[in-house]
Amino acid sequence: MDRTILAHTPTEMEELGVDLAEGLRDGMVVSLIGELGAGKTTLVKGIAKGLLITDLVVSPSYLIYRSYKGRLVLHHLDAYRVSSLEELAEVGLDQLIPPAEGVTVIEWPERVPEIIDVSDVVVRITPHPDGSRQVDISTR
Ligand SMILES: Nc1ncnc2c1ncn2[C@@H]1O[C@H](COP(=O)(O)OP(=O)(O)O)[C@@H](O)[C@H]1O
Ligand SMILES: [Mg+2]
Repeated sequence: MDRTILAHTPTEMEELGVDLAEGLRDGMVVSLIGELGAGKTTLVKGIAKGLLITDLVVSPSYLIYRSYKGRLVLHHLDAYRVSSLEELAEVGLDQLIPPAEGVTVIEWPERVPEIIDVSDVVVRITPHPDGSRQVDISTR
């Protein structure tokens, strides 16, 4: 199922994440595609809120991976500095794709195309010239 939403503000982006969280179940993988500054981490903050996670969600860029516990465990991965599935396997993070428990949400999945192939939800964020973000959500 595909749908397109226009998010005009960071708040609307978060609300979209809260909405997305409702459909998430253990073992799911969510890919967030979009350039730097598109709003991926903002969407993850909303997903965390929807999963009743009260910890502050920060960009995992320098750590690659962070996890949070709410209604489900949220595994937040940033593959920006990853160039292959083998590289993820070297640090054991391939086990999160898909996760045995919880949901995995990945920024920069396009770095490892196999991740997109196995994703249950693929979100593509495209900034428009007026600052709003077009969000295309494809659920498999
Ligand atoms: N829908 C939106 N409209 C306008 N600004 C947004 C929207 N979503 C996010 N932003 C803003 O864009 C900036 C980058 O967002 P961020 O989520 O860190 O992007 P990314 O993780 O894709 O690099 C932040 O200042 C954020 O508040
Ligand atoms: Mg980010």
